[in-house]
Parts: sequence; C-alpha cells; structure tokens
Amino acid sequence: MTPTAARADWKVVDEGWGRKAVDFAALSEPSNCREYVALHHRLAVGDGDRLIDVACGAGLAIELAHARGATCAGIDASPRLVAVARDRNPQADVRVGDMHAMPWTDASFDVATSFRGIWGTTPAALGEIHRVLVPGGRLGLTVWGHIKASPGAWALAPFRMAATAKVENQAEMVSLGRPGVGEELLARYGFTDIERMHVPFAWEFSDPEMYARVLASTGPAYEAIQNVGEDAFVAAAAEQAREHVRDGLPLRAQINVVGYLARKPQTSPKEAE
Ligand SMILES: C[S@@+](CC[C@H](N)C(=O)[O-])C[C@H]1O[C@@H](n2cnc3c(N)ncnc32)[C@H](O)[C@@H]1O
Repeated sequence: MTPTAARADWKVVDEGWGRKAVDFAALSEPSNCREYVALHHRLAVGDGDRLIDVACGAGLAIELAHARGATCAGIDASPRLVAVARDRNPQADVRVGDMHAMPWTDASFDVATSFRGIWGTTPAALGEIHRVLVPGGRLGLTVWGHIKASPGAWALAPFRMAATAKVENQAEMVSLGRPGVGEELLARYGFTDIERMHVPFAWEFSDPEMYARVLASTGPAYEAIQNVGEDAFVAAAAEQAREHVRDGLPLRAQINVVGYLARKPQTSPKEAE
C-alpha cells in the first residue's frame, strides 16, 4: 500500500484491529509490557510530562505512562480499541482518529511514543508527531526488527497466509527496522539526537490453542483470515505452535524489535541561522 492509500484507508483499520478488541486487550497487549517499560524508562517519562501515544491500541502503554506520573493522550483508528483504552484510562484524552491528521494543536506534548504504530507505509505520521511536540520534545518509537532472525519468528509466520499482495505490504510495513532506514526517515522529518536502542520483546502463551486465539485478535491475522477463513487460520496456527511447546514452561516467542529515541530540536533550522 502506498502512503497515500494507507492514509485514505484509516477508517477500515477497525475491521481487523477492532473485531476482537477484548481478546487483543486482555490476551495480547499485556505481552508487550516489556517494550513499554523499556521505552518509558529510556525517555525518562515522569511527573509533569504531557505524553501522546500514537496508534495507542487498547491503551496499556498509556496506563503505564500514567503510573509514572505523565498526563496522557492517545489516538487510534479503531473505535473498539479506543473504547478499551478509555475504560483503562478515564483520566486520559484518548481519541479515535488518523495519526496523519492529529486533533491537537502545535506543541501540545513533551513526549510522544508509538509502539509498532508507525510503519514504512505511514511515514508522514512523523510530521504530525513533530508538529504536536514542543521544541526539545522527546520521541520514542518501536518497530519490528529482523523478524526472520528472531527466535520467535514462528509466532508471526501465520500472517503469511494472507493474499500475496497483503504479504508484500506487510514486508514493506516492517522496513523501518532495517539499519539506517528509521534514522534517515526521522532526520528527514526534522528530528535530531536520533539513537537506536534494543527493545526487549517476548510473547508468551499458555498453550498452542491460546496462542492461535491471541494471534487471531490482531490486524494482520485478519488479512490472513480473509484469505483462508478463521477456522483454517486458527487450526494452522495452533498446529505450527505445537513443536515449540516446552514441558513446564510457557510457549515463548522472542522477537527482534528496534527502538528509536529522538528529539524535536529546541530551535527550528531557520531560527538557528
Ligand atoms: C501493531 S498495533 C499496535 C497497538 C499498540 N500500540 C500496542 O502496543 O499494542 C497498530 C495499531 O495502529 C492502529 N492504526 C493503524 N492505522 C492507524 C492510523 N492511520 N491512525 C491511527 N491509528 C492507526 C491500529 O488500530 C492498531 O491499534
């Protein structure tokens, strides 16, 4: 999908991401807590920070940022995920909307985060993040890293049951993790002090059936389900997970995730002249 098409399509995102919002919120998102904690720590999120989480999903990262003292806002394209995010964060300003046209005025936030929410197909969202950050504001992003080289690559493999064009788009989406790509993009959108960081990331599941149910609650799984049907998707996912079962331990899929830290400059290049 081209960036323009990705922007035009934001209203259909809920079809895939919202259809199993409760499963996603309760069974999938908690496994992401390692990356939330690591990025909040590196950004030194704390008292007095006004923080926006972009593509906030069901709002667990917002809940954790609030626990550190931040005043939080969030935006996501899926109304059904935003309903969960609001339930978890009654004190936060969580909105349904497109991250390419955010409904906040310039310089509203000290910190912006996005956890696997900005993609190679959605780079222009970085311009919006730049706009809503104060000069000197901090940015932390995570993106999928080298998935094939990850010990837990098997856990994402069922997404390849989607139609070929969708699988090709998924590959384009994850391009931001490649060496130099995210750095170049962030610099192009005016960010400075760009740093790449390691992000701890591991999904855990009690058994293959639970793994298949959890995976089916995600947006890319919906693309595969549209192609092969839900029963076939769930059966195939559970079957391939069986070989990863370990006696007395959870199924665990460690996946390479890349983090980027950056800042909006204190002064614009023009002002600095
Ligand atoms: C991989 S999920 C990440 C969700 C959340 N950050 C997390 O950590 O679980 C991607 C999210 O991006 C949202 N999304 C996709 N396109 C969007 C857009 N144009 N504007 C806002 N949110 C969008 C989806 O609804 C979904 O919640």
